[in-house]
Amino acid sequence: MARLTPSRLKIGVLISGRGSNLQALIDACAAPDFPAENALVLSNKADAYGLERATAAGVPGAVVSHRDYPGNKQAFEEAMDARLREAGVELVCLAGFMRLLSPWFVDTWRDRLINIHPSLLPSFKGLDTHERAIAAGVRFHGCTVHYVRPEMDEGPILVQAAVPVLPGDDAHALAERVLESEHRIYPQAVRLIAEGRTRVEDGRVVISGPVTALPALVNPPA
Ligand code: GRF
Repeated sequence: MARLTPSRLKIGVLISGRGSNLQALIDACAAPDFPAENALVLSNKADAYGLERATAAGVPGAVVSHRDYPGNKQAFEEAMDARLREAGVELVCLAGFMRLLSPWFVDTWRDRLINIHPSLLPSFKGLDTHERAIAAGVRFHGCTVHYVRPEMDEGPILVQAAVPVLPGDDAHALAERVLESEHRIYPQAVRLIAEGRTRVEDGRVVISGPVTALPALVNPPA
């Protein structure tokens, strides 16, 4: 008897720019055994290159510009929320989305809203993480996928990857190295959620099943 195809988790990706993490998620979803699918790419900027990536991949894209809601963040976020719901989105992935979300939006999507940040949180929250990591002289830097909470770059950590900071690195070189890891761990985190293997307990993410099988949890060889 033919087996019914199990349903895939519908993800919505929020972007503001080039969308290389979006591309990593698009590529992951193209694999037939990946347990999630791209239902919508939403940008707050009409000229975001990520929208072209969505079109090229046949993923629905939409623009909700914050500029259309001057001084009314709630209306901007309600418009985004409506588009996400219309598309049947079950998990929202922030991927270089450059607007701070209000507690209303974050609580509406609580534990169904994740972000990727280019540092090993809780170190280096905010912007210019690579410059600041070099200035601090840390030996390892990296990236984090986490559930979103109302405070910026806070929230239970799903997956992290560390990369070495090498002598002579400038922010650009370090950013490139970190970005390779971002593209690896974002699909990994989405897979964990889509497979129902994550739960939040006391502010931490508990993963069920064999975490040793997750390559992203192990530092790649130098
Ligand atoms: C990434 O470094 C991500 O960690 C941060 O913003 C950047 C977005 O890059 N939140 P891209 O648009 O995915 O290429």
